[in-house]
Amino acid sequence: MNELQILKSDITQSRVVESKLDIDTPLAAGEILLKVDKFGFSANNVTYAAAGDQLGYWQFFPASNNETETWGIIPVWGFADVVASSVEAVDAGERIFGYYPTNSYLKMQNVKVLESRLVDGAEHRSKLPPGYNTYRRVGKEADYDSNMDNMRMLLWPLYITSFCLWDSLQHNDWHGAKQVIVISASSKTSIGLGYALAADTDAPTSIGLTSKRNQEWVAGLELYDTTINYDALEEIDASIPTVIVDMSGNSQLLADIYAHLGDSLVHCLNVGLTHWSEGGKDTGIPADRREFFFAPSHIQMRIKEWGHEGFDSKSSQFIYDSCKRSAHWIKIEKLDGVEELADIYADVCAGKLPPEKALVIEL
Ligand SMILES: NC(=O)c1ccc[n+]([C@@H]2O[C@H](COP(=O)([O-])OP(=O)(O)OC[C@H]3O[C@@H](n4cnc5c(N)ncnc54)[C@H](OP(=O)(O)O)[C@@H]3O)[C@@H](O)[C@H]2O)c1
Repeated sequence: MNELQILKSDITQSRVVESKLDIDTPLAAGEILLKVDKFGFSANNVTYAAAGDQLGYWQFFPASNNETETWGIIPVWGFADVVASSVEAVDAGERIFGYYPTNSYLKMQNVKVLESRLVDGAEHRSKLPPGYNTYRRVGKEADYDSNMDNMRMLLWPLYITSFCLWDSLQHNDWHGAKQVIVISASSKTSIGLGYALAADTDAPTSIGLTSKRNQEWVAGLELYDTTINYDALEEIDASIPTVIVDMSGNSQLLADIYAHLGDSLVHCLNVGLTHWSEGGKDTGIPADRREFFFAPSHIQMRIKEWGHEGFDSKSSQFIYDSCKRSAHWIKIEKLDGVEELADIYADVCAGKLPPEKALVIEL
């Protein structure tokens, strides 16, 4: 039983160690032991590591053999099966979708049981965003289809963000913009936003901004109205009021776009860090024209207004349709265990994977 750990001070470094999680002692009241079956891995998970200290991602799953706390575990989205439970109404064999460690087991504590959800109430998770502590009891879903498991764990956390981005943009009347620039346009979160913008007749025109090597592939998706590469920013019409949705976190790139657009840049949503090693510097974009966009906060805000069911019904059709549309381009590569993930992890960090490749790790 091994776990993959990441060196907090240099997230390109990883190690595989034997997990010290106790899975043999009988469970205390309120505990559930789950065996992780499989999970997805993408730049989103690298971002959890890059933002591990600032946003608390290292706190979800304590790492074994880690007295000096130099190592951390990256959370991942996947499926697990209950192997033991001391919680009423949850039995061994139940399948659960949610947030897991890169480890074979998760022991939930103080579990709150809802009709279609479980909430891990472990003390060390109590201050973390509730969306990450909430798990789906997929057997309770009328339309659950296990054939969609891979697509769901790879794309749900990303396309729900795409939905929220679209929702936020249209709710804010596009911040007055007449064009949307989506940076790191080949990322799956961007592609999901591209689907939403293309389907919305009221949306401004879209520009997918990507690297030279991914430009042809992105253009081939026929999703954005225009596809431009990072070395050709002058192709962007700087006279049009523009909103940026940035998945890259690339400070120099943002500074260059701002220098090109000037006052035409009306708003910038800072969403991701795919170019995580190029971040953290001043972009020059004024504070009142940029905001950090955090999907779990947006979801909580909407759940307060619409309720869980309301939010689910508004978002799930979009996510389902987007997953279906992705089937023609996505190329799933299956890896055997965290050991094979460790072999490829440095390449994921370095952005060496082609955008169509999606990793599924089976344990
Ligand atoms: N704020 C939130 O709530 C939230 C929620 C979900 C996702 N996100 C963020 O959205 C971003 C996209 O995640 P994803 O899983 O959709 O990504 P992904 O599909 O794995 O994206 C792959 C693309 O990212 C770029 N990339 C990745 N690593 C790179 C590197 N080291 N150097 C340069 N480019 C690199 C490349 O795109 P280009 O060539 O096009 O640049 C690559 O084709 C992540 O940062 C994620 O954390 C944020």
